Amino acid sequence: MLPALLLAAFLAAGPVPYPAGAPVAPDDPALARADRAAAALTSELFGRLQRELATGGPAKAIAVCSREAPAIAAHLSHGGVTVRRVGTRVRNPVNAPDAFEAAVLARWQETIAGGGTPQEEAVWVTVGGIRTLRVMRPIMTGSLCLSCHGDPGHFAPGVRAELAKRYPDDRATGYREGELRGAVSVTIVQ
Ligand code: HEC
Repeated sequence: MLPALLLAAFLAAGPVPYPAGAPVAPDDPALARADRAAAALTSELFGRLQRELATGGPAKAIAVCSREAPAIAAHLSHGGVTVRRVGTRVRNPVNAPDAFEAAVLARWQETIAGGGTPQEEAVWVTVGGIRTLRVMRPIMTGSLCLSCHGDPGHFAPGVRAELAKRYPDDRATGYREGELRGAVSVTIVQ
């Protein structure tokens, strides 16, 4: 009952509904391409983050994250593929979800509220006459993430100041381990 009410409230207040999509075949080569791009973004970023945290600590790693995260996403985005990260709440406003992404994130929150685990979603939509594959892969908050996305009261020295300097509108703190942080979002136009 409650999830139904929440969903109704979301649909009433939410953005213009995204055009209904067509299912994606599991062996669709575009889906494989999207999954490769999502996996590459995740592993490149995670590897970089782990190295920086180990060598310079979280306050220094923020500078790297703010430079490298968009750069890695940009170099993996070519030939009709766009890959990026979006958040349930965002540090960088550029990573705010669009209508489609927001709808998927809201659905995943419902799944979690109902005791489930969010799963990757893929759908073919037609936007402005262009056939477009949209793929969303959940990003959950791990313990490593808490040094920059957890409770600011527990941040290492320098982290709050560095975040305030670079991200005056930061809303991406206060996450708990295991919580939905956002998604890797891949778009492929054909
Ligand atoms: C060293 C600090 C630091 C750590 C640790 C960290 N992040 Fe971030 N995170 C950032 C910064 C800085 C940005 C903004 C990047 C940008 O400008 O695009 C960010 C942005 C994000 C975004 C994009 C949405 C937004 O808020 O702008 C997601 C998703 C995200 N982080 C997830 C994670 C996850 C998951 C982990 C753990 C695996 C993690 N982060 C660990 C600093 C960190």
